[in-house]
Amino acid sequence: MTEWVDVETTGIAHGGEAVARHEGRVIFVRGALPDERVRVRITDAPAHGRFRRGVVEEVLQPSPDRVQPPCRYADRCGGCDWQFAAVPAQRELKARVVREQLQRLGGEPADRWADLLVEAVPGDVDGLRWRTRMRYAVDGQGRAGLRPHHSHDILPIDQCLLAAPDVEDLDVLGRSWPGVSEILAVTGDEESLALPDPRPGMAKLTETALGRTWTLDATAFWQVHPGAAETLATSVLDLIEPRPGEHVVDLYSGVGLFAGAVLSAIGPGGRIDAVESSAVAVKGARRSLHEAEQVHLHEARVDRWLRDTPLRRCDLVILDPPRAGAGREVLHRIFRLKPRGVAYVACDPAALARDVAIARDEGWHLASLRAFDLFPMTHHVECVALLEPIDTVKP
Ligand SMILES: C[S@@+](CC[C@H](N)C(=O)[O-])C[C@H]1O[C@@H](n2cnc3c(N)ncnc32)[C@H](O)[C@@H]1O
Repeated sequence: MTEWVDVETTGIAHGGEAVARHEGRVIFVRGALPDERVRVRITDAPAHGRFRRGVVEEVLQPSPDRVQPPCRYADRCGGCDWQFAAVPAQRELKARVVREQLQRLGGEPADRWADLLVEAVPGDVDGLRWRTRMRYAVDGQGRAGLRPHHSHDILPIDQCLLAAPDVEDLDVLGRSWPGVSEILAVTGDEESLALPDPRPGMAKLTETALGRTWTLDATAFWQVHPGAAETLATSVLDLIEPRPGEHVVDLYSGVGLFAGAVLSAIGPGGRIDAVESSAVAVKGARRSLHEAEQVHLHEARVDRWLRDTPLRRCDLVILDPPRAGAGREVLHRIFRLKPRGVAYVACDPAALARDVAIARDEGWHLASLRAFDLFPMTHHVECVALLEPIDTVKP
């Protein structure tokens, strides 16, 4: 039986939903902003759960930050969940989520990151047309589209406003794709490709950041926003300030974006160990960084490599794990290498916060933090943090 409730939203949750309370229980409301009055259709109500989930059916009293979504599919498509919020408000909400996660899960003092801003990627104006990589699903009639939120259905669309102009020019949505189940549409520095049912080895791309070029498999990981790779690499360099001759360990290194970025700072006398489990990414790193003798590539899982490496010390670590974060064992083994700093690039503030709490147990602390709006129109946010040993805290 469908249930509707009228609620006032008070906060914002880590998953992008507004938080409301009704009859003593929390409701996570998709499609709402904090400080709104909304009619909510309950979509998930576990009998003994502490919270329920719902979706906005009607906005009774809107927030001043609510706007008309630029995309006409916004209420049905699962691709982006915050089109109805003004872009500056999206960034404020993301900052609030990062602060709250660091406080609740990371044990950081309430006001420690009060001034944190979620910074726009240079060149981003309205939060649209930034996806250089799109994965479209194809339905039984060969029509490409996107999936609604938490659904296996396919919503045929004729335009995605987040797709970069060169991706849109591929006209994936205007063509028919019989017999295909998925299309990767991707644009690099020079080429744009639409790959039906993509597999490693089908095509290569070139990408540039900080004046260096990478040649990678079209299916390998590269940052999606065109300004993201350079923004992250610059902020990592600013945080750890690598010095000539230093030894840097780059964990979850992908095609070697950060390895390439630190090369000139550590100079010919330095060393980089880059660890990545995807064979296709390591191949891209080898192709792109082969002339740099300081770079040693390891195709391995980070936890296993850290367990088995004979390495006893290093100067700096760069850590860019997948959404789950690094976890206790990986962090413990990193800290045993006694680096002077760890640059932590995090796509999930909750995972970052959990790792900050673990770091504190191990005698480390969150010394510096920046956050970037790499995924406008969605609740996702990227953080770049610096962890340092507590005994280096200046009085
Ligand atoms: C967020 S991406 C970062 C890649 C790279 N640092 C960059 O910025 O382009 C995370 C990378 O971790 C790799 N990865 C995931 N789990 C891993 C593991 N257990 N060990 C090593 N690499 C892993 C993925 O293949 C992916 O390339």
